[in-house]
Amino acid sequence: MKTVGPTVPYLDLKLQLRALRPELDAAIARTLDNCTFCLGPDVVQFEKDFAQYCGAAHCLGFNSGTSALHVAMLLLGVGPGDEVITTPYTFAATSWAISYVGAKPVYVDIDDTTFNLDPQKVAAAITPRTKAVLAVHLYGQPCDLDALLAICRKHNLPLVEDAAQAHGAKYHGKTVGTFGVISCFSFYPAKNLGACGEGGALVTNDAALAARAKSLREHGSSQRYHHDEVGFNYRMEGLQGAVLGVKLKYLNQWLQARRQVIQRYHTLLADTPLRLPAEAPGVESAWHLYTVRHPRRDALKQYLEANGVGSAVHYPLPLHLQKCYASLGYKTGDFPVTEQAAKECLSLPLFPELTQAQVERVAAVVHEFFQTAA
Ligand SMILES: Cc1ncc(COP(=O)(O)O)c(C=O)c1O
Repeated sequence: MKTVGPTVPYLDLKLQLRALRPELDAAIARTLDNCTFCLGPDVVQFEKDFAQYCGAAHCLGFNSGTSALHVAMLLLGVGPGDEVITTPYTFAATSWAISYVGAKPVYVDIDDTTFNLDPQKVAAAITPRTKAVLAVHLYGQPCDLDALLAICRKHNLPLVEDAAQAHGAKYHGKTVGTFGVISCFSFYPAKNLGACGEGGALVTNDAALAARAKSLREHGSSQRYHHDEVGFNYRMEGLQGAVLGVKLKYLNQWLQARRQVIQRYHTLLADTPLRLPAEAPGVESAWHLYTVRHPRRDALKQYLEANGVGSAVHYPLPLHLQKCYASLGYKTGDFPVTEQAAKECLSLPLFPELTQAQVERVAAVVHEFFQTAA
């Protein structure tokens, strides 16, 4: 059934860019005038500002979150024969980092309410080969850091935070990014803090790790044409540093706007059969995504689409069931909580500029779906 109402895109980046256009134009023009295209002063300034934002001693700009995660694994000496415990319910890049260094991702199931790693299952998966725990703050919600850190301390394992979706999220009042030994962020355009292209960052309080990350990012070199080890070209582009420097100033304001949107969703959808996302106690999600759950997810998605409302599925196929990881030997049924979430999850439109009328329209279409289905 098709009803009348405004269309609501799943995401509209143009609105944000239009509002910032004069500032972005000036920042981009400065980069063009200076020809500082690879790293350069704007990247250095952004690194300082983002480190301060996270309350961290060091931040290094990367050309993607994926490359920052790769370097994180190298910094911790993870290599062939090692195991890294991680989540099967995330974007694939989390696991790429482990695979790139020849190690094995060891998956454990997630918590049913937060979609994040279940610490008890992490503890049970530790073996003598375990070299690190790579946890994701999925959809912007910090994972159970106290429990994970206690397990890591007990077994002398480093914790790496994949904070690609969680810029500005807080755990017991403290911004994520320094709970683990290393944290990695993505500035993919659709993220809460997005570049005008690709970008990422590696954040740490450890000066030695930061120094090596800086070298690995730039061809394994700290002095031009002298290479201490085989490195990578993982530099952040100057243009992205300039753009991110402008945008970082607005991040808190955007996080607040997101929170307002989700509060409206919470109120308007409370009486539907949807399972709504919830913040764990002591946690302030960055609300990267507003992901609801229902067994008739696919029909709901179709109905929303037919009525001009965008939505997305994050993620339809867990990593342990992906073709690329068939050799790991996992099978359907290994992680029931993850597999159920993958069947039921649906992310509704969420961006800071979403209007009250648009949120109301989304909620109205959801209500209509269930009325029609009843
Ligand atoms: C959880 C997670 N990890 C890693 C990445 C990889 O980041 P990027 O796309 O910047 O390489 C992303 C984003 O795409 C992500 O959502």
